[in-house]
Amino acid sequence: MDKRAADRRIKELREEINYHNYLYYVLDSPEISDAEYDRLMQQLAGLEKAYPPLITTDSPTQRVGAPPLEEFKSVTHTIPMLSLSNTETEEETLEFDRRIKRFLHLHEEMGIEYVAETKLDGLAVEVVYEGGILTVGSTRGDGFTGEDVTLNLRTIKTIPLNLIKRHEPAPERLEVRGEVFLKLRDFRELNRKREESGGQLFANPRNAAAGSLRQLNPNITAKRPLDIFFYGTGEVRGRRFETHWDVLNTLKSWGLKTNPLNRLCYGIGRVIEYYKEIGNMRDSLEYEIDGVVVKVNSLELQDRLGAVARSPRWAIAYKFEPRQGTTKILKIEAHVGRTGILTPVAIMEPVRIGGVTVSRSTLHNQDEIDRKDVRAGDWVLIQRAGDVIPEVVKVITSKRTGEEIPYRLPDRCPVCGSDALKEDVYYRCTGINCPAQLKERIRHFASRRAMDIEGLGEKLTEQLVDKRLVKNLSDIYYLTKGQIAALERMADKSAQNIIDAIEASKGRGLSRVVFALGIRHVGEHTGKVLAQRFGDIERLLSAREEELLETNEIGPEIAQSVIKFFSQDDNKKEIKRLRDAGIRFPIIQTAREGKLQGKVFVLTGTLKSWTRDEAKERIESVGGHVTSSVSENTDFVVAGEEPGSKARKAKELGVKIITEDEFLKML
Ligand code: IVH
Repeated sequence: MDKRAADRRIKELREEINYHNYLYYVLDSPEISDAEYDRLMQQLAGLEKAYPPLITTDSPTQRVGAPPLEEFKSVTHTIPMLSLSNTETEEETLEFDRRIKRFLHLHEEMGIEYVAETKLDGLAVEVVYEGGILTVGSTRGDGFTGEDVTLNLRTIKTIPLNLIKRHEPAPERLEVRGEVFLKLRDFRELNRKREESGGQLFANPRNAAAGSLRQLNPNITAKRPLDIFFYGTGEVRGRRFETHWDVLNTLKSWGLKTNPLNRLCYGIGRVIEYYKEIGNMRDSLEYEIDGVVVKVNSLELQDRLGAVARSPRWAIAYKFEPRQGTTKILKIEAHVGRTGILTPVAIMEPVRIGGVTVSRSTLHNQDEIDRKDVRAGDWVLIQRAGDVIPEVVKVITSKRTGEEIPYRLPDRCPVCGSDALKEDVYYRCTGINCPAQLKERIRHFASRRAMDIEGLGEKLTEQLVDKRLVKNLSDIYYLTKGQIAALERMADKSAQNIIDAIEASKGRGLSRVVFALGIRHVGEHTGKVLAQRFGDIERLLSAREEELLETNEIGPEIAQSVIKFFSQDDNKKEIKRLRDAGIRFPIIQTAREGKLQGKVFVLTGTLKSWTRDEAKERIESVGGHVTSSVSENTDFVVAGEEPGSKARKAKELGVKIITEDEFLKML
């Protein structure tokens, strides 16, 4: 392709990519698959590589990769970024509406048109587009002057580098304002990673977003999944607006993401309804909001109303109840979860936080207690974010009397009395029949890849455990049809089906039983390894640590876990009862010399003929392996419909990608 043709194609590709970004991020309705999108990006990158002078800063390939800055420059906002005054009650909000009418000399019965929006708890930024191209981005700062964070804002995928001009041309200059935030899920994930690497945790999503945006190295920002909703403008040249609603819709048509929950409300009554509706949704939103913002829709009226001090008269933030509160810890208890982990829980004097009465809060683990130095009797600051369990933010040490009692988790399970072993930061109960764990263990035991007992689902398990018909795993094999038929929503026929399924599970073989027992660190694959090595449950029961360690793929962690498990008397009894019930422990040989012997597969996308598990079983039955991520060791990536990032990774590494049909032929 010659330079002129390349130039034309590059422009076409950029426009196409921008448009697909808009469909994906703003309208939330993509028209092409990830793979097709990647192809466009690769084509563009390829052409730009061949013709470097054609690279422009607004190309979608140029979001990341800028070198770190020494410091941020400052940016003066053309129009100051104001802040909002708050209301906290319905009465105060009604008074806001009355005040507006008084100021405008309107009749008090008249309804004002408002736009109601969610108030995101992130940080405000301003982005400038000149001729439709992003030129500068800054933080709010003190409202007059902020920091130049252009390079960082460019890494946020939901901020377009180029405005969309399909609906109307880009204005000569657009200063657009919005709130940068982190979704709750991403915030938790970020903190989890920081905890792993021993870094300081962010106190809340807002701090995490601010910390991520104010990085001198844009490559760090690029790794944080920041997002944005735009909610207004600064100076605009080359486009006039009548209403704020018009502003929001036009921003959206230019590809600037606005919040889909925004609503046009005729009269303050509608605003109050909106506030209540959003309040009910608050816990289920993906991001933190701390209220709703109410704005007069007419820009002419906004102008007439003006501002007092640094807040406009035409808008308010109608805040929700705060998510934090203080209370006293009455005692600290250890609770046993379904997986046997002992979790310290603070029992507190009830306190209302964000509309909910809170009287208990997780303290996570012993390390967390030690780090925050939480003691029974302490006054603490409690926080509730999203729908998560309330957390202790910090101890109010100034309120200490000296009577507070430090806490240590017990080394025995408070429910069943078995040893509680320390694993990383957790203590875990080792008793196989611990009632707290029983339901989860049954679920695992009966699951398809373990003993595969069809019909023994969550509902039935609940009843069996609650009615004390099953007190340990082996009891499953001593159930009678009469007992099952007497349970809720069970008929004679369904009870018989369950009995048949339980019977059928007895012949699944040693490796499945070993996996089904739920021994820590012993997954499906390790179950197979142990079964192959020891061949018999009795041999495995009496295996010594050295023998285990000599086994291929068995490290000290697994070895100790296996030894510990089989050394508990209860667990030994369980094995005997399973055997007495008729469970057979032969090794079911998996094909050792199959035609895909030793080949490593990764599955991605949706397969038409099989589920992932079925495909995995088939591959293993002819000697292959399936792993979850692509690496140099992968032999084939099987790409079903809408393959994801794994296919992309495979391309990068030069791993062979095959279609489902090719895969079927291979098998
Ligand atoms: S409008 C004069 N709309 O709240 C209008 N602000 O105290 C000023 N915020 O700094 C802003 N969501 O960071 C507006 N939908 C929204 C908002 C919003 C969050 C933040 C913004 C601003 C602060 C106002």
